[in-house]
Amino acid sequence: YVVGVDLGTSAVKVLLVSQEGDVVDEVSKDYPLYHDQPGYSEQDPEDWVKQTKAALKELTDRLDAGSTIDGLSFSGQMHGLVLLDADRRPLRRAILWNDTRTTAECREIEELVGLNRLHELTKNPALEGFTLPKLLWVKKHEPEVFAQADVFLLPKDYVRYRLAGDLSMDYSDAAGTLLLNVADKEWSKEVCEKTGIPFDLCPNLVGSEEKTGTILEDVASETGLTTATQVFAGGADNACGAIGAGILEDGLTLSSTGTSGVVLSYEATGDKDFQGQVHYFNHGDSSAYYTMGVTLAAGYSLSWFKDTFADDISFEALVDEAKQSKIGAKGMLFTPYIVGERTPHPDSAIRASFIGAHASHNRGDFARAVIEGITFSLNESVQIFRNKGKTISKVVASGGGAKSDLWLQIQADVFNADVVTLSNEQGPGMGAAILAAVGSGWYPTLKDCAKDFVSYDKTYSPIEENVKTYQALFNLYQDVYHQTKSLNH
Ligand code: XUL
Repeated sequence: YVVGVDLGTSAVKVLLVSQEGDVVDEVSKDYPLYHDQPGYSEQDPEDWVKQTKAALKELTDRLDAGSTIDGLSFSGQMHGLVLLDADRRPLRRAILWNDTRTTAECREIEELVGLNRLHELTKNPALEGFTLPKLLWVKKHEPEVFAQADVFLLPKDYVRYRLAGDLSMDYSDAAGTLLLNVADKEWSKEVCEKTGIPFDLCPNLVGSEEKTGTILEDVASETGLTTATQVFAGGADNACGAIGAGILEDGLTLSSTGTSGVVLSYEATGDKDFQGQVHYFNHGDSSAYYTMGVTLAAGYSLSWFKDTFADDISFEALVDEAKQSKIGAKGMLFTPYIVGERTPHPDSAIRASFIGAHASHNRGDFARAVIEGITFSLNESVQIFRNKGKTISKVVASGGGAKSDLWLQIQADVFNADVVTLSNEQGPGMGAAILAAVGSGWYPTLKDCAKDFVSYDKTYSPIEENVKTYQALFNLYQDVYHQTKSLNH
């Protein structure tokens, strides 16, 4: 077997995967989030370690006698800052990816490095969620803490340190710090110098499938693993999500709708210039990259609508009502900016709108407008990729948007691409397991392993007439942001 550890924001999930690629067991353990002030989002790294060990113990307790776990690897929530002192102890709680206290630091970074130079070196915009702004925030607001800092890690790297003893970070996760020269795969001395971050705070860099150690002796006795289990670096949750969905070659794109929505596309090289319009990160396959756009409120827009206007029925019933409506929701348009937007407008102040409501519209029409509006927002990312010459002909759908025929067909028609579903969707934990399987020598490459471990189910093809209707509506949709911006700024 191999184990994939998916260190998420609300819980850690460990998957036990067989040599045939089947998930034979899984355990999930949650931990608290701390929001001590508005915009703050923190977690105690000790909680991650405690719950990961507890989950592994439960998993090994159920394991058949005589079976072995060859390898273990990780998928991690991105960007979170874990600061360690010289004795490798966390100096404070981790500041997470969804913490928004660092707007001033983002503007400072743009000023100090220069906007174009920042995009050139790091390939990404300065966003509150990223790690460098958090380092600058601690330096400014907690100088006594910063003075003791010896190294910084990201969440899953700290858990791996506690399980296997190595201090390192893989490229796919390091790409989300804003300190990595993404194309050259090395820490940027220039960004460190210009922003005043000591270069030696940056940990050793490794590839996601590289072996970084074996399970420590005391951890083996606590978890029921053995010291023979090899530990591999692992990757960022989005990179692992891509691996787990088989997004490992040119032409493949992932559309994933959870609370937020992500459109992610494989890139063979790191030399394109998106001027920070989308995220451009190193892939779990260390020689590759991926681009990614984010819709802040994807599934969240639909659950908000249901909670507010359709509390009395199930999600399925609401989607059934939406099915009774027509393409274009009988002339109504929704923009899903209920908590602001990220791609293509990094704007936390913009708000949502329904446009074109008529006295004859019913709840199903509104629900359909919401689903279409979320998909238009995802399509903004698809269009940015296409504008850079990318061919997007096959999109793998996952998350809530992959659970309804209606939404899958809407995606095919709006994206004007084939949309396929996964037969056994496991998310980023499967990507981590694939990294462990390749690291353990089961397969020569991630692509070879994914061929066996990942399979597709249904295909939804675009219907020409619908594509035309949606293209006209999408043009209108794109205007709404600009026309409504002044309402909220
Ligand atoms: C990516 C991002 C989120 C986190 C969630 O930029 O902020 O997807 O990785 O864990």
